[in-house]
Amino acid sequence: MPTNFEKRLTADEINILTNQFDSVTPENCMKWHNLCPNENEYRFASVDRIFDLAAKNQQKIVGHTLIFNRDGNYPGWLFRDGIKEADAKLVWKRVEAHVEKLMTRYKGRVDSWDVLNEFVELHDPGFRVTDFTRVLGKDYPVRLFKLAAEIDPKAKLTYNDFAVENPKRRKAILTFLRSLRDKGCRIDVVGSQSHLEIGDNIGEQIDATLKEFAAEGIRCAFTELDVDVISRKLYWNPKTRAKAKQQNPYPNGCPAEILKQQAKVYRDVFEAVMANRKHVDRVTMWGITDRNSWLNNWPWKRVNHGLLFDRKSQPKPAFHAVAKVLSGG
Ligand code: XIL
Repeated sequence: MPTNFEKRLTADEINILTNQFDSVTPENCMKWHNLCPNENEYRFASVDRIFDLAAKNQQKIVGHTLIFNRDGNYPGWLFRDGIKEADAKLVWKRVEAHVEKLMTRYKGRVDSWDVLNEFVELHDPGFRVTDFTRVLGKDYPVRLFKLAAEIDPKAKLTYNDFAVENPKRRKAILTFLRSLRDKGCRIDVVGSQSHLEIGDNIGEQIDATLKEFAAEGIRCAFTELDVDVISRKLYWNPKTRAKAKQQNPYPNGCPAEILKQQAKVYRDVFEAVMANRKHVDRVTMWGITDRNSWLNNWPWKRVNHGLLFDRKSQPKPAFHAVAKVLSGG
């Protein structure tokens, strides 16, 4: 959920947040660069407000995220030491201090920590090369998970990534998590971000993913679910990216036919979830209504309609499709 939520959300949105969800994830304010833009200058106010509201509503809380292994998602100072680059010893000392500060402050209140976000890549060298991997080496996740387990033995520890269901990525992620476990790490949950789009036919892949991870003793969470109504496929191809960025087909509302296609994707997800519910930790929506969804800006600016509630906070066909599955209908 968004930073400064009291200012950014309407009364209807707060109502949805309070009554429709039993768990809450801070969307941005717990990320290191937002929480601590300058060394030793922590800005806990937004996180604290979210935690207070969640406690009042008896909602679980997800800590998102201790380390986000993607450029732009950590503060610049972390890798600097005056005029030179920080060495591994200094960076790890800062990682330890940060993880300890965050996990200790919210101990007993966080149900699950996204310990590491977006590490695995299919292309060489098999992980995303960032300042973290460059300075700390590719094995830093081992130290990170051990550290998290030591500080909070009771919180669930999650590895969170995108396209987890994709068979090739699933295999790579499974191999990565096995290697962490072989080295003594505790991983309780694998988080599938689930930024889906209409036309995705993902039911069988979710089913297989849930079963495969369950066989390893790892449950799955759907951590950031939304279903884009404007396909992103053209965007990922550099040759068609410019064309993709011109698309804004539904600025004044989403056609019924498209909403129906979207509802089908949501239904497929929840049917697979319900068929394997003992293997599922949770399903989290990435936002509350279409008005404040990140899909309006990522990966290009457009009017999007990816969530279960529209801009006026009204339930959409997707909401009814999900409700039907959840009620066994
Ligand atoms: C996104 C937020 O929704 C945006 O507001 C922000 O500008 C960028 O980050 N994977 C993640 C999330 O794990 O933290 C990202 O959240 C979306 C992709």
